[in-house]
Amino acid sequence: MLAVLGSTGQLGGRVAARLANLGVAQRLIVRDPKRAPKLPGAEVVQASSYSDAKGMGRALTGVDTLFMVSAHDIIAFSRHQAGVKNLFVVPEDYKPTSAQDKEIPAYDRVQQHAALIYAAAAVGVQRIVYNSVMSAEADATFILARDHYHTEELIRGVGLNFTFLRMCLYADRVAAHCSNDGVIRGPAGEGRAAWVTRDDLADVIVATLTQSGHDRCTYDVTGPESLTMAETAEQLSVATGQKITYQPQTPHEARVTRSVSGLDNYDAERRALTGRGVSDLEVDILVSHFHQIATGELATVCDTVPKLTGHPAHSLADYLKEHPESYQHLIR
Ligand SMILES: NC(=O)c1ccc[n+]([C@@H]2O[C@H](COP(=O)([O-])OP(=O)(O)OC[C@H]3O[C@@H](n4cnc5c(N)ncnc54)[C@H](OP(=O)(O)O)[C@@H]3O)[C@@H](O)[C@H]2O)c1
Repeated sequence: MLAVLGSTGQLGGRVAARLANLGVAQRLIVRDPKRAPKLPGAEVVQASSYSDAKGMGRALTGVDTLFMVSAHDIIAFSRHQAGVKNLFVVPEDYKPTSAQDKEIPAYDRVQQHAALIYAAAAVGVQRIVYNSVMSAEADATFILARDHYHTEELIRGVGLNFTFLRMCLYADRVAAHCSNDGVIRGPAGEGRAAWVTRDDLADVIVATLTQSGHDRCTYDVTGPESLTMAETAEQLSVATGQKITYQPQTPHEARVTRSVSGLDNYDAERRALTGRGVSDLEVDILVSHFHQIATGELATVCDTVPKLTGHPAHSLADYLKEHPESYQHLIR
């Protein structure tokens, strides 16, 4: 039996839908069965979170191959706690309730992953396909990429077979990296990113889940070209018909002025939800997200998408043409 985690989300939902289209039987392990996609050949099993080792052990019993979506990072977790996940800005009419108007509880994504991986190994899961990131190293520039390194190490450590899909940054979120005034501000220097679409990543994941020959393999997953932020801004200009520019910052300047793109919205959102602004750690996460581009950690283009799926990878221009909804906040 093949099991899929995260099917109520964007990436896991795409993977589950593709498997159903191929006629593959699957078990969807979700926190809330009401939100699980309704798909032919899919059974739905509930477990409250990755850290629910007993619930996960029950849900994973009889499973040999598992697709594991990485758990929410600390920023997504705080939105989830407040009930406004997947929104880039807090809605104007949002009113925190007394239950939401409280400190965000402590959260450790690697601990969530550890509980899940140990539970999987204990009930006999043979193989985990895991969405990692390109810069997953213990000392990665991007702070959140270190979680992925530790997760890969945990999976290797319990002796399971694995396939690690180290994705580049999502093309789907490029427009979200641009502030409403049409400027991308961040310490990305002259570095390049090989933006990849969630759809291409999902196709690669499904190939590794359904074909043999990917055991103990680690693949980078990128789009077909690597763009500087100035070139990225230019592509956004073409798609939106608006003037979009890139304003480079040093990491120090970004941190001190807290003017890196996205931070203003995120800070306002957090104040509305909890009465407090974002923490220094969260500022560092956003700053390091851009800085990893400057260091060249995301610049390499690879052929994993065409090789494993048989179709070319979508470019950023393709994505923007097909998804105008991704940049509506930039239309003035
Ligand atoms: N490359 C990039 O640019 C980029 C950008 C953003 C994110 N990412 C990564 O991509 C991953 C998947 O992205 P996505 O777009 O599919 O995210 P998403 O739409 O937020 O979906 C995440 C899924 O994982 C589930 N989940 C998260 N934490 C969990 C936990 N602790 N226990 C149980 N279930 C949990 C969620 O369940 P619920 O629906 O119940 O919450 C949801 O189904 C993210 O986790 C992140 O690591 C990459």
